[in-house]
Amino acid sequence: MYPQKPNNLTNRLNLCKILAIAGFTLFIFFMYVSHYPVLPNSISSDCLSSLKKTFDLPSSPQQVSATDITQLVFAISGSVKAWRDRRSYFREWWRPNVTRGYIFFDKKPTPDLLPWPSELPPYRISENTTKFDVYLRHVKPNVIRIVRTILEAHREGDKDVRWYVMGDDDTVFFVDNLVELLRRYDHTKYYYIGGVSECVKSNFDFSFEMAFGGAGFALSYPLVEALVDNLDACIGIYPFYYVSDQILSACIADLGVPLTPERGFHQIDLVHDISGYLSAHPQAPLISLHHLDIAFPIFPGINRHTSVAHLMNAAKFDQSRLLQQTVCYHKEKNWAFSIASGYSIYIYEQYIPRSILRRPFETFTPWSLKRHPPDYMFNTRLLVPDDPCETPHVFFFHSIKRLGNDNNTTDEIVMTYIRSMQRRLPPCSSNHSADYISRIEVYSPASKLSFVENRGECCDVLDVDDSRTAKVKIRACQKSEIMA
Ligand SMILES: *[C@@H]1O[C@H](CO)[C@@H](O)[C@H](O)[C@H]1NC(C)=O
Ligand SMILES: *[C@@H]1O[C@H](CO)[C@@H](O)[C@H](O)[C@H]1NC(C)=O
Ligand SMILES: *[C@@H]1O[C@H](CO)[C@@H](O)[C@H](O)[C@H]1NC(C)=O
Ligand SMILES: *[C@@H]1O[C@H](CO)[C@@H](O)[C@H](O)[C@H]1NC(C)=O
Ligand SMILES: *[C@@H]1O[C@H](CO)[C@@H](O)[C@H](O)[C@H]1NC(C)=O
Repeated sequence: MYPQKPNNLTNRLNLCKILAIAGFTLFIFFMYVSHYPVLPNSISSDCLSSLKKTFDLPSSPQQVSATDITQLVFAISGSVKAWRDRRSYFREWWRPNVTRGYIFFDKKPTPDLLPWPSELPPYRISENTTKFDVYLRHVKPNVIRIVRTILEAHREGDKDVRWYVMGDDDTVFFVDNLVELLRRYDHTKYYYIGGVSECVKSNFDFSFEMAFGGAGFALSYPLVEALVDNLDACIGIYPFYYVSDQILSACIADLGVPLTPERGFHQIDLVHDISGYLSAHPQAPLISLHHLDIAFPIFPGINRHTSVAHLMNAAKFDQSRLLQQTVCYHKEKNWAFSIASGYSIYIYEQYIPRSILRRPFETFTPWSLKRHPPDYMFNTRLLVPDDPCETPHVFFFHSIKRLGNDNNTTDEIVMTYIRSMQRRLPPCSSNHSADYISRIEVYSPASKLSFVENRGECCDVLDVDDSRTAKVKIRACQKSEIMA
Protein backbone atom coordinates (compact mmCIF):
# COMPACT_ATOMS: atom_id res chain seq x y z
CA MET A 1 0.00 0.00 0.00
CA TYR A 2 2.76 2.43 0.95
CA PRO A 3 5.70 2.00 -1.35
CA GLN A 4 7.90 4.50 0.64
CA LYS A 5 10.80 3.52 2.87
CA PRO A 6 9.76 2.73 6.47
CA ASN A 7 11.28 5.94 7.97
CA ASN A 8 9.14 8.06 5.67
CA LEU A 9 6.01 6.21 6.57
CA THR A 10 5.07 8.06 9.75
CA ASN A 11 5.47 11.47 8.15
CA ARG A 12 3.54 10.34 5.16
CA LEU A 13 0.74 8.95 7.33
CA ASN A 14 0.47 12.25 9.20
CA LEU A 15 0.35 14.20 5.97
CA CYS A 16 -2.18 11.75 4.67
CA LYS A 17 -4.29 12.22 7.80
CA ILE A 18 -4.33 16.01 7.40
CA LEU A 19 -5.14 15.71 3.73
CA ALA A 20 -7.77 13.12 4.51
CA ILE A 21 -9.51 15.35 7.03
CA ALA A 22 -9.34 18.31 4.64
CA GLY A 23 -10.48 16.07 1.84
CA PHE A 24 -13.33 14.66 3.84
CA THR A 25 -14.51 18.15 4.74
CA LEU A 26 -14.41 19.02 1.07
CA PHE A 27 -16.15 15.77 0.27
CA ILE A 28 -18.99 16.57 2.69
CA PHE A 29 -19.27 19.96 1.00
CA PHE A 30 -19.51 18.33 -2.42
CA MET A 31 -22.09 15.88 -1.10
CA TYR A 32 -24.21 18.90 -0.27
CA VAL A 33 -23.84 20.66 -3.60
CA SER A 34 -24.11 17.58 -5.76
CA HIS A 35 -25.97 14.30 -5.78
CA TYR A 36 -22.77 12.51 -6.65
CA PRO A 37 -19.94 11.91 -4.26
CA VAL A 38 -17.37 13.96 -6.21
CA LEU A 39 -13.99 13.29 -4.71
CA PRO A 40 -11.48 16.11 -4.70
CA ASN A 41 -8.65 15.11 -7.00
CA SER A 42 -5.93 17.00 -5.14
CA ILE A 43 -5.35 14.07 -2.77
CA SER A 44 -2.89 11.43 -3.87
CA SER A 45 -4.41 8.07 -4.72
CA ASP A 46 -2.71 6.35 -1.75
CA CYS A 47 -4.42 8.73 0.61
CA LEU A 48 -7.62 8.38 -1.29
CA SER A 49 -7.74 4.65 -0.86
CA SER A 50 -7.14 4.88 2.87
CA LEU A 51 -9.66 7.71 3.07
CA LYS A 52 -12.21 5.52 1.32
CA LYS A 53 -11.47 2.67 3.69
CA THR A 54 -11.71 4.85 6.80
CA PHE A 55 -15.04 6.38 5.92
CA ASP A 56 -16.38 3.53 3.83
CA LEU A 57 -17.27 5.79 0.94
CA PRO A 58 -19.09 4.45 -2.07
CA SER A 59 -16.56 3.70 -4.78
CA SER A 60 -18.85 4.44 -7.69
CA PRO A 61 -21.12 7.42 -8.23
CA GLN A 62 -24.22 5.26 -8.27
CA GLN A 63 -25.55 3.87 -5.03
CA VAL A 64 -26.21 0.13 -5.26
CA SER A 65 -29.91 -0.53 -5.21
CA ALA A 66 -31.45 -3.07 -2.85
CA THR A 67 -31.70 -6.55 -4.32
CA ASP A 68 -35.10 -7.37 -5.73
CA ILE A 69 -36.81 -10.59 -6.65
CA THR A 70 -35.89 -10.37 -10.35
CA GLN A 71 -32.17 -10.41 -9.53
CA LEU A 72 -32.39 -13.98 -8.30
CA VAL A 73 -32.20 -16.97 -10.62
CA PHE A 74 -33.52 -20.27 -9.27
CA ALA A 75 -31.79 -23.41 -10.49
CA ILE A 76 -33.79 -26.47 -9.52
CA SER A 77 -32.77 -30.02 -10.23
CA GLY A 78 -35.66 -32.39 -10.68
CA SER A 79 -36.60 -35.69 -12.19
CA VAL A 80 -39.33 -36.28 -14.74
CA LYS A 81 -40.60 -39.19 -12.69
CA ALA A 82 -41.32 -37.18 -9.54
CA TRP A 83 -42.58 -34.06 -11.31
CA ARG A 84 -46.23 -35.03 -11.44
CA ASP A 85 -46.41 -35.12 -7.62
CA ARG A 86 -44.11 -32.26 -6.92
CA ARG A 87 -45.19 -29.61 -9.41
CA SER A 88 -48.03 -28.52 -7.14
CA TYR A 89 -45.46 -27.25 -4.62
CA PHE A 90 -44.19 -24.85 -7.29
CA ARG A 91 -47.64 -23.43 -7.77
CA GLU A 92 -47.46 -22.32 -4.13
CA TRP A 93 -44.29 -20.28 -4.35
CA TRP A 94 -43.26 -19.73 -7.97
CA ARG A 95 -44.41 -16.34 -9.34
CA PRO A 96 -44.93 -16.59 -13.09
CA ASN A 97 -43.18 -13.84 -15.01
CA VAL A 98 -41.62 -12.52 -11.80
CA THR A 99 -39.32 -15.20 -10.43
CA ARG A 100 -36.61 -16.25 -12.87
CA GLY A 101 -35.07 -19.68 -13.17
CA TYR A 102 -35.20 -23.17 -14.58
CA ILE A 103 -35.90 -26.71 -13.64
CA PHE A 104 -33.29 -29.12 -14.97
CA PHE A 105 -34.62 -32.58 -15.79
CA ASP A 106 -32.83 -35.87 -16.25
CA LYS A 107 -34.67 -36.44 -19.53
CA LYS A 108 -37.34 -35.05 -21.81
CA PRO A 109 -40.70 -34.62 -20.05
CA THR A 110 -43.19 -37.30 -20.99
CA PRO A 111 -46.13 -36.26 -23.24
CA ASP A 112 -48.56 -36.15 -20.30
CA LEU A 113 -46.54 -33.27 -18.82
CA LEU A 114 -46.74 -31.25 -22.03
CA PRO A 115 -47.55 -28.64 -23.21
CA TRP A 116 -45.49 -27.03 -20.49
CA PRO A 117 -47.62 -24.59 -18.46
CA SER A 118 -46.44 -20.96 -18.42
CA GLU A 119 -47.13 -20.64 -14.69
CA LEU A 120 -44.32 -23.08 -13.90
CA PRO A 121 -40.58 -22.45 -14.30
CA PRO A 122 -39.32 -23.31 -17.79
CA TYR A 123 -37.60 -26.66 -18.02
CA ARG A 124 -34.25 -27.64 -19.46
CA ILE A 125 -32.80 -31.07 -20.05
CA SER A 126 -29.45 -31.57 -18.35
CA GLU A 127 -26.47 -32.20 -20.52
CA ASN A 128 -25.60 -35.89 -20.90
CA THR A 129 -22.72 -36.54 -18.50
CA THR A 130 -21.76 -40.03 -19.68
CA LYS A 131 -19.10 -38.43 -21.87
CA PHE A 132 -17.08 -37.21 -18.89
CA ASP A 133 -14.39 -39.65 -17.88
CA VAL A 134 -15.25 -39.21 -14.19
CA TYR A 135 -18.62 -40.80 -14.99
CA LEU A 136 -17.16 -44.30 -14.98
CA ARG A 137 -15.06 -43.64 -11.85
CA HIS A 138 -17.86 -42.10 -9.80
CA VAL A 139 -19.53 -44.02 -6.97
CA LYS A 140 -22.86 -42.54 -8.01
CA PRO A 141 -22.55 -41.19 -11.55
CA ASN A 142 -26.09 -39.76 -11.54
CA VAL A 143 -25.11 -37.03 -9.09
CA ILE A 144 -22.72 -35.48 -11.63
CA ARG A 145 -25.71 -34.16 -13.53
CA ILE A 146 -27.13 -32.61 -10.37
CA VAL A 147 -23.84 -30.95 -9.37
CA ARG A 148 -23.64 -29.43 -12.86
CA THR A 149 -27.05 -27.74 -12.50
CA ILE A 150 -25.34 -24.54 -11.34
CA LEU A 151 -23.04 -24.56 -14.36
CA GLU A 152 -25.90 -25.09 -16.79
CA ALA A 153 -28.00 -22.42 -15.10
CA HIS A 154 -25.13 -19.95 -15.36
CA ARG A 155 -24.66 -20.88 -19.01
CA GLU A 156 -28.20 -19.67 -19.71
CA GLY A 157 -26.62 -16.22 -19.53
CA ASP A 158 -29.31 -14.34 -17.64
CA LYS A 159 -28.54 -10.65 -17.25
CA ASP A 160 -28.45 -8.62 -14.04
CA VAL A 161 -28.22 -11.64 -11.74
CA ARG A 162 -27.01 -11.11 -8.18
CA TRP A 163 -27.76 -14.52 -6.71
CA TYR A 164 -28.30 -18.05 -7.95
CA VAL A 165 -30.60 -20.01 -5.67
CA MET A 166 -30.38 -23.78 -5.80
CA GLY A 167 -33.17 -26.06 -4.67
CA ASP A 168 -34.80 -29.44 -5.17
CA ASP A 169 -38.12 -30.08 -6.85
CA ASP A 170 -39.68 -30.57 -3.39
CA THR A 171 -38.32 -27.37 -1.84
CA VAL A 172 -40.89 -24.71 -0.97
CA PHE A 173 -39.35 -21.23 -0.87
CA PHE A 174 -40.66 -18.18 0.94
CA VAL A 175 -39.45 -15.78 -1.69
CA ASP A 176 -40.14 -12.45 0.00
CA ASN A 177 -38.18 -13.53 3.06
CA LEU A 178 -35.38 -14.85 0.86
CA VAL A 179 -35.07 -11.54 -0.98
CA GLU A 180 -35.10 -9.65 2.32
CA LEU A 181 -32.39 -11.95 3.67
CA LEU A 182 -30.15 -11.63 0.62
CA ARG A 183 -30.42 -7.84 0.82
CA ARG A 184 -28.40 -8.06 4.01
CA TYR A 185 -25.45 -9.57 2.12
CA ASP A 186 -23.14 -7.97 -0.44
CA HIS A 187 -23.80 -9.78 -3.72
CA THR A 188 -20.47 -8.53 -5.13
CA LYS A 189 -18.60 -10.68 -2.58
CA TYR A 190 -18.29 -14.46 -2.32
CA TYR A 191 -21.24 -15.94 -0.46
CA TYR A 192 -22.53 -19.46 0.02
CA ILE A 193 -25.63 -19.10 2.20
CA GLY A 194 -27.75 -21.99 3.39
CA GLY A 195 -28.44 -24.34 6.23
CA VAL A 196 -27.30 -27.65 7.62
CA SER A 197 -29.62 -30.51 8.57
CA GLU A 198 -31.65 -30.55 11.78
CA CYS A 199 -30.15 -33.95 12.53
CA VAL A 200 -26.70 -34.30 14.03
CA LYS A 201 -26.20 -37.59 12.23
CA SER A 202 -26.90 -36.18 8.76
CA ASN A 203 -24.36 -33.42 9.36
CA PHE A 204 -21.88 -35.88 10.81
CA ASP A 205 -22.29 -38.21 7.82
CA PHE A 206 -22.15 -35.48 5.15
CA SER A 207 -20.67 -32.30 6.57
CA PHE A 208 -21.30 -29.63 9.16
CA GLU A 209 -20.00 -27.10 6.60
CA MET A 210 -22.39 -28.03 3.81
CA ALA A 211 -25.62 -26.35 2.74
CA PHE A 212 -28.19 -29.12 2.36
CA GLY A 213 -29.64 -28.85 -1.12
CA GLY A 214 -33.21 -29.70 -0.22
CA ALA A 215 -33.27 -26.69 2.07
CA GLY A 216 -32.00 -24.62 -0.84
CA PHE A 217 -29.03 -22.29 -0.78
CA ALA A 218 -27.89 -19.07 -2.39
CA LEU A 219 -24.63 -18.40 -4.23
CA SER A 220 -23.52 -14.86 -5.03
CA TYR A 221 -22.69 -14.12 -8.65
CA PRO A 222 -18.90 -13.85 -8.21
CA LEU A 223 -18.86 -17.19 -6.40
CA VAL A 224 -20.81 -18.84 -9.21
CA GLU A 225 -18.41 -17.43 -11.81
CA ALA A 226 -15.44 -18.84 -9.91
CA LEU A 227 -17.21 -22.12 -9.30
CA VAL A 228 -18.23 -22.84 -12.89
CA ASP A 229 -14.70 -22.14 -14.12
CA ASN A 230 -13.49 -25.11 -12.10
CA LEU A 231 -16.53 -27.28 -11.73
CA ASP A 232 -15.82 -30.13 -14.10
CA ALA A 233 -12.24 -30.41 -12.86
CA CYS A 234 -13.50 -30.29 -9.29
CA ILE A 235 -16.05 -33.05 -9.83
CA GLY A 236 -13.12 -35.21 -10.94
CA ILE A 237 -11.43 -34.72 -7.56
CA TYR A 238 -14.40 -36.10 -5.62
CA PRO A 239 -15.60 -39.32 -7.32
CA PHE A 240 -16.17 -40.84 -3.86
CA TYR A 241 -18.95 -38.50 -2.66
CA TYR A 242 -22.45 -39.91 -2.95
CA VAL A 243 -24.35 -36.65 -2.70
CA SER A 244 -24.21 -33.66 -5.05
CA ASP A 245 -24.31 -31.18 -2.14
CA GLN A 246 -21.12 -32.72 -0.77
CA ILE A 247 -19.29 -32.26 -4.05
CA LEU A 248 -20.51 -28.71 -4.49
CA SER A 249 -19.64 -27.73 -0.92
CA ALA A 250 -16.19 -29.28 -1.38
CA CYS A 251 -15.62 -27.29 -4.58
CA ILE A 252 -16.73 -24.09 -2.82
CA ALA A 253 -14.48 -24.83 0.17
CA ASP A 254 -11.59 -25.34 -2.26
CA LEU A 255 -12.23 -21.84 -3.59
CA GLY A 256 -11.70 -20.57 -0.03
CA VAL A 257 -15.34 -19.72 0.63
CA PRO A 258 -17.05 -20.86 3.87
CA LEU A 259 -20.71 -21.66 4.44
CA THR A 260 -22.68 -18.75 5.86
CA PRO A 261 -25.35 -20.55 7.89
CA GLU A 262 -28.80 -19.04 8.07
CA ARG A 263 -31.38 -20.65 10.30
CA GLY A 264 -34.46 -20.23 8.12
CA PHE A 265 -33.39 -22.77 5.46
CA HIS A 266 -35.00 -26.08 6.41
CA GLN A 267 -33.89 -29.40 5.09
CA ILE A 268 -36.50 -31.04 7.38
CA ASP A 269 -34.68 -34.28 8.00
CA LEU A 270 -37.48 -34.92 10.50
CA VAL A 271 -40.28 -37.37 9.99
CA HIS A 272 -43.80 -37.97 11.31
CA ASP A 273 -45.40 -35.00 13.08
CA ILE A 274 -43.21 -31.92 12.58
CA SER A 275 -45.73 -29.54 14.20
CA GLY A 276 -43.59 -29.29 17.34
CA TYR A 277 -40.68 -28.01 15.26
CA LEU A 278 -42.74 -25.54 13.24
CA SER A 279 -44.31 -24.23 16.46
CA ALA A 280 -40.93 -23.17 17.84
CA HIS A 281 -39.10 -21.90 14.78
CA PRO A 282 -35.62 -20.45 15.33
CA GLN A 283 -35.57 -16.69 15.58
CA ALA A 284 -34.82 -16.09 11.90
CA PRO A 285 -36.96 -15.49 8.82
CA LEU A 286 -38.51 -18.63 7.34
CA ILE A 287 -36.76 -19.20 4.01
CA SER A 288 -37.68 -22.72 2.93
CA LEU A 289 -39.32 -26.01 3.85
CA HIS A 290 -38.44 -29.38 2.36
CA HIS A 291 -39.52 -33.01 2.60
CA LEU A 292 -43.14 -31.98 3.14
CA ASP A 293 -44.22 -35.04 1.20
CA ILE A 294 -42.46 -37.28 3.72
CA ALA A 295 -43.53 -35.73 7.03
CA PHE A 296 -47.21 -35.89 8.07
CA PRO A 297 -49.35 -33.07 6.64
CA ILE A 298 -48.44 -29.96 8.65
CA PHE A 299 -52.06 -29.11 9.51
CA PRO A 300 -54.33 -31.73 11.09
CA GLY A 301 -57.17 -33.05 8.98
CA ILE A 302 -56.02 -31.71 5.60
CA ASN A 303 -53.78 -33.29 3.00
CA ARG A 304 -50.17 -32.37 2.30
CA HIS A 305 -50.68 -30.06 -0.66
CA THR A 306 -53.66 -28.26 0.85
CA SER A 307 -51.63 -27.83 4.04
CA VAL A 308 -48.86 -26.06 2.15
CA ALA A 309 -51.41 -23.87 0.39
CA HIS A 310 -52.96 -23.08 3.77
CA LEU A 311 -49.60 -22.00 5.22
CA MET A 312 -49.07 -19.83 2.15
CA ASN A 313 -52.43 -18.22 2.86
CA ALA A 314 -51.08 -17.15 6.22
CA ALA A 315 -48.11 -15.63 4.41
CA LYS A 316 -50.32 -13.67 2.04
CA PHE A 317 -50.06 -10.26 3.70
CA ASP A 318 -46.77 -10.70 5.48
CA GLN A 319 -44.17 -13.44 5.16
CA SER A 320 -41.79 -11.82 7.64
CA ARG A 321 -43.68 -13.00 10.74
CA LEU A 322 -44.49 -16.46 9.43
CA LEU A 323 -43.73 -19.06 12.15
CA GLN A 324 -42.10 -16.40 14.35
CA GLN A 325 -42.68 -17.26 17.97
CA THR A 326 -44.18 -14.73 20.37
CA VAL A 327 -44.88 -15.48 24.02
CA CYS A 328 -47.17 -13.69 26.48
CA TYR A 329 -49.10 -14.38 29.63
CA HIS A 330 -52.46 -13.85 31.25
CA LYS A 331 -51.86 -12.92 34.87
CA GLU A 332 -55.20 -13.78 36.51
CA LYS A 333 -55.60 -17.08 34.74
CA ASN A 334 -51.92 -17.91 35.06
CA TRP A 335 -51.75 -18.94 31.40
CA ALA A 336 -48.90 -18.77 28.91
CA PHE A 337 -49.57 -18.25 25.19
CA SER A 338 -46.95 -19.34 22.67
CA ILE A 339 -47.80 -18.17 19.16
CA ALA A 340 -46.10 -19.42 15.99
CA SER A 341 -47.44 -16.83 13.60
CA GLY A 342 -49.63 -18.24 10.84
CA TYR A 343 -49.29 -21.75 12.16
CA SER A 344 -50.19 -22.63 15.75
CA ILE A 345 -50.86 -21.39 19.27
CA TYR A 346 -50.21 -23.34 22.42
CA ILE A 347 -51.88 -22.31 25.68
CA TYR A 348 -50.28 -23.63 28.85
CA GLU A 349 -52.10 -23.42 32.16
CA GLN A 350 -48.97 -22.18 33.89
CA TYR A 351 -46.23 -19.60 33.36
CA ILE A 352 -43.34 -21.02 31.35
CA PRO A 353 -40.50 -18.65 30.36
CA ARG A 354 -39.80 -18.00 26.70
CA SER A 355 -36.34 -19.55 27.07
CA ILE A 356 -38.07 -22.89 27.64
CA LEU A 357 -40.91 -22.44 25.18
CA ARG A 358 -38.49 -21.78 22.34
CA ARG A 359 -37.41 -25.44 22.56
CA PRO A 360 -39.59 -27.48 20.23
CA PHE A 361 -41.72 -30.29 21.57
CA GLU A 362 -40.29 -33.49 20.21
CA THR A 363 -43.38 -34.49 18.24
CA PHE A 364 -41.08 -35.70 15.41
CA THR A 365 -38.57 -38.46 14.82
CA PRO A 366 -35.07 -38.08 13.38
CA TRP A 367 -34.43 -39.07 9.75
CA SER A 368 -32.69 -42.23 10.92
CA LEU A 369 -35.97 -43.23 12.66
CA LYS A 370 -33.98 -44.19 15.76
CA ARG A 371 -33.74 -41.99 18.80
CA HIS A 372 -30.18 -41.87 19.94
CA PRO A 373 -29.46 -38.45 21.53
CA PRO A 374 -28.02 -36.06 20.69
CA ASP A 375 -30.25 -36.39 17.64
CA TYR A 376 -30.82 -32.75 16.84
CA MET A 377 -28.87 -29.56 16.34
CA PHE A 378 -31.18 -27.86 18.87
CA ASN A 379 -32.66 -28.62 22.28
CA THR A 380 -36.09 -30.17 22.48
CA ARG A 381 -38.71 -30.76 25.16
CA LEU A 382 -40.23 -34.16 25.63
CA LEU A 383 -44.00 -34.42 25.79
CA VAL A 384 -45.24 -35.39 29.24
CA PRO A 385 -48.56 -37.05 28.49
CA ASP A 386 -51.31 -36.58 31.05
CA ASP A 387 -49.56 -33.72 32.81
CA PRO A 388 -52.10 -30.87 32.75
CA CYS A 389 -49.45 -28.24 33.53
CA GLU A 390 -46.99 -29.32 30.83
CA THR A 391 -49.48 -30.29 28.12
CA PRO A 392 -50.70 -27.31 26.11
CA HIS A 393 -54.04 -26.68 24.50
CA VAL A 394 -53.28 -26.70 20.77
CA PHE A 395 -54.77 -24.37 18.16
CA PHE A 396 -53.96 -24.16 14.46
CA PHE A 397 -54.13 -21.31 11.98
CA HIS A 398 -57.53 -21.00 10.35
CA SER A 399 -57.92 -17.68 8.52
CA ILE A 400 -56.42 -14.25 7.97
CA LYS A 401 -57.76 -10.86 7.06
CA ARG A 402 -56.61 -7.31 6.89
CA LEU A 403 -58.31 -4.64 8.97
CA GLY A 404 -57.84 -1.16 7.59
CA ASN A 405 -59.61 2.04 8.59
CA ASP A 406 -60.96 4.39 5.93
CA ASN A 407 -57.51 5.75 5.06
CA ASN A 408 -55.63 2.54 5.57
CA THR A 409 -53.53 4.43 8.11
CA THR A 410 -53.91 2.02 11.04
CA ASP A 411 -53.61 -1.26 9.26
CA GLU A 412 -53.73 -4.43 11.25
CA ILE A 413 -53.81 -8.07 10.34
CA VAL A 414 -56.01 -10.44 12.28
CA MET A 415 -55.35 -14.16 12.21
CA THR A 416 -57.78 -16.66 13.63
CA TYR A 417 -56.69 -19.94 15.16
CA ILE A 418 -59.03 -22.83 16.00
CA ARG A 419 -58.61 -25.50 18.66
CA SER A 420 -57.56 -28.75 17.03
CA MET A 421 -58.95 -31.05 19.70
CA GLN A 422 -60.05 -31.18 23.32
CA ARG A 423 -57.21 -31.74 25.72
CA ARG A 424 -59.17 -34.14 27.98
CA LEU A 425 -57.15 -33.39 31.11
CA PRO A 426 -58.10 -31.80 34.44
CA PRO A 427 -56.96 -28.20 34.95
CA CYS A 428 -53.39 -27.52 36.04
CA SER A 429 -54.65 -25.57 39.06
CA SER A 430 -58.06 -25.35 40.74
CA ASN A 431 -60.26 -23.23 38.50
CA HIS A 432 -58.10 -22.07 35.64
CA SER A 433 -58.88 -24.51 32.88
CA ALA A 434 -58.58 -23.20 29.32
CA ASP A 435 -60.92 -25.89 28.02
CA TYR A 436 -63.59 -23.36 27.15
CA ILE A 437 -61.40 -21.44 24.67
CA SER A 438 -62.09 -22.67 21.15
CA ARG A 439 -60.81 -19.80 19.05
CA ILE A 440 -58.02 -17.24 19.27
CA GLU A 441 -57.77 -13.99 17.34
CA VAL A 442 -54.31 -12.50 17.02
CA TYR A 443 -53.91 -8.89 15.94
CA SER A 444 -50.57 -7.87 14.52
CA PRO A 445 -49.22 -4.80 12.71
CA ALA A 446 -49.46 -4.90 8.91
CA SER A 447 -45.86 -3.71 8.68
CA LYS A 448 -43.00 -6.12 8.09
CA LEU A 449 -41.03 -7.47 11.01
CA SER A 450 -37.44 -6.25 10.87
CA PHE A 451 -34.87 -8.88 11.72
CA VAL A 452 -32.15 -6.24 11.74
CA GLU A 453 -33.43 -5.16 15.18
CA ASN A 454 -32.51 -8.67 16.29
CA ARG A 455 -35.29 -8.85 18.81
CA GLY A 456 -38.54 -10.74 18.64
CA GLU A 457 -41.92 -9.21 19.38
CA CYS A 458 -44.03 -9.20 22.51
CA CYS A 459 -47.77 -9.59 22.94
CA ASP A 460 -50.65 -8.88 25.30
CA VAL A 461 -53.54 -11.19 26.06
CA LEU A 462 -56.45 -8.77 25.67
CA ASP A 463 -59.45 -10.84 26.50
CA VAL A 464 -60.16 -14.34 27.73
CA ASP A 465 -63.39 -13.76 29.64
CA ASP A 466 -67.04 -14.38 28.90
CA SER A 467 -66.47 -15.87 25.51
CA ARG A 468 -64.94 -18.80 23.78
CA THR A 469 -62.63 -16.49 21.83
CA ALA A 470 -59.36 -15.25 23.28
CA LYS A 471 -57.81 -12.10 21.82
CA VAL A 472 -54.11 -11.39 21.66
CA LYS A 473 -52.25 -8.39 20.30
CA ILE A 474 -48.71 -8.56 18.97
CA ARG A 475 -46.58 -5.47 19.43
CA ALA A 476 -42.98 -4.34 19.76
CA CYS A 477 -41.39 -5.21 23.10
CA GLN A 478 -40.68 -2.44 25.56
CA LYS A 479 -37.06 -1.64 26.20
CA SER A 480 -36.41 -4.02 29.09
CA GLU A 481 -39.49 -6.21 28.85
CA ILE A 482 -38.91 -9.89 29.56
CA MET A 483 -41.09 -12.83 28.64
CA ALA A 484 -41.04 -14.94 31.79
C1 LIG B 1 -46.15 -14.50 -18.79
O1 LIG B 1 -45.81 -13.62 -19.85
C2 LIG B 1 -46.07 -14.16 -21.14
C3 LIG B 1 -45.52 -13.20 -22.18
O2 LIG B 1 -45.70 -11.88 -21.80
C4 LIG B 1 -47.58 -14.40 -21.29
O3 LIG B 1 -47.85 -14.96 -22.55
C5 LIG B 1 -48.02 -15.37 -20.20
O4 LIG B 1 -49.42 -15.54 -20.26
C6 LIG B 1 -47.64 -14.86 -18.82
N1 LIG B 1 -47.94 -15.90 -17.88
C7 LIG B 1 -48.60 -15.68 -16.76
C8 LIG B 1 -48.94 -16.87 -15.94
O5 LIG B 1 -48.92 -14.55 -16.39
C1 LIG C 1 -26.22 -40.26 -22.82
O1 LIG C 1 -25.36 -40.71 -23.80
C2 LIG C 1 -25.17 -42.13 -23.79
C3 LIG C 1 -24.10 -42.48 -24.79
O2 LIG C 1 -24.29 -41.79 -26.00
C4 LIG C 1 -26.51 -42.82 -24.06
O3 LIG C 1 -26.34 -44.22 -24.02
C5 LIG C 1 -27.50 -42.40 -23.02
O4 LIG C 1 -28.78 -42.94 -23.28
C6 LIG C 1 -27.59 -40.89 -22.96
N1 LIG C 1 -28.44 -40.51 -21.82
C7 LIG C 1 -29.49 -39.70 -21.94
C8 LIG C 1 -30.25 -39.41 -20.69
O5 LIG C 1 -29.82 -39.21 -22.98
C1 LIG D 1 -57.34 9.79 7.79
O1 LIG D 1 -56.12 10.49 7.70
C2 LIG D 1 -56.17 11.83 8.12
C3 LIG D 1 -54.79 12.45 7.97
O2 LIG D 1 -54.02 11.78 7.05
C4 LIG D 1 -56.65 11.92 9.57
O3 LIG D 1 -56.78 13.28 9.94
C5 LIG D 1 -57.97 11.21 9.73
O4 LIG D 1 -58.36 11.19 11.09
C6 LIG D 1 -57.87 9.79 9.20
N1 LIG D 1 -59.16 9.11 9.29
C7 LIG D 1 -59.34 7.99 9.96
C8 LIG D 1 -60.70 7.41 9.89
O5 LIG D 1 -58.42 7.44 10.58
C1 LIG E 1 -56.97 -0.52 2.04
O1 LIG E 1 -56.10 -1.64 1.88
C2 LIG E 1 -56.76 -2.80 1.42
C3 LIG E 1 -55.78 -3.93 1.40
O2 LIG E 1 -54.58 -3.56 0.78
C4 LIG E 1 -57.34 -2.52 0.03
O3 LIG E 1 -58.01 -3.66 -0.44
C5 LIG E 1 -58.31 -1.35 0.12
O4 LIG E 1 -58.79 -1.03 -1.17
C6 LIG E 1 -57.65 -0.13 0.73
N1 LIG E 1 -58.64 0.90 0.96
C7 LIG E 1 -58.44 2.16 0.63
C8 LIG E 1 -59.56 3.10 0.93
O5 LIG E 1 -57.40 2.58 0.11
C1 LIG F 1 -60.50 -19.43 41.64
O1 LIG F 1 -60.21 -20.08 42.82
C2 LIG F 1 -59.68 -19.28 43.84
C3 LIG F 1 -59.35 -20.15 45.02
O2 LIG F 1 -58.62 -21.23 44.59
C4 LIG F 1 -60.70 -18.17 44.19
O3 LIG F 1 -60.14 -17.31 45.15
C5 LIG F 1 -61.07 -17.40 42.95
O4 LIG F 1 -62.08 -16.46 43.21
C6 LIG F 1 -61.53 -18.33 41.86
N1 LIG F 1 -61.72 -17.56 40.61
C7 LIG F 1 -62.78 -17.73 39.84
C8 LIG F 1 -62.80 -16.89 38.60
O5 LIG F 1 -63.66 -18.51 40.07
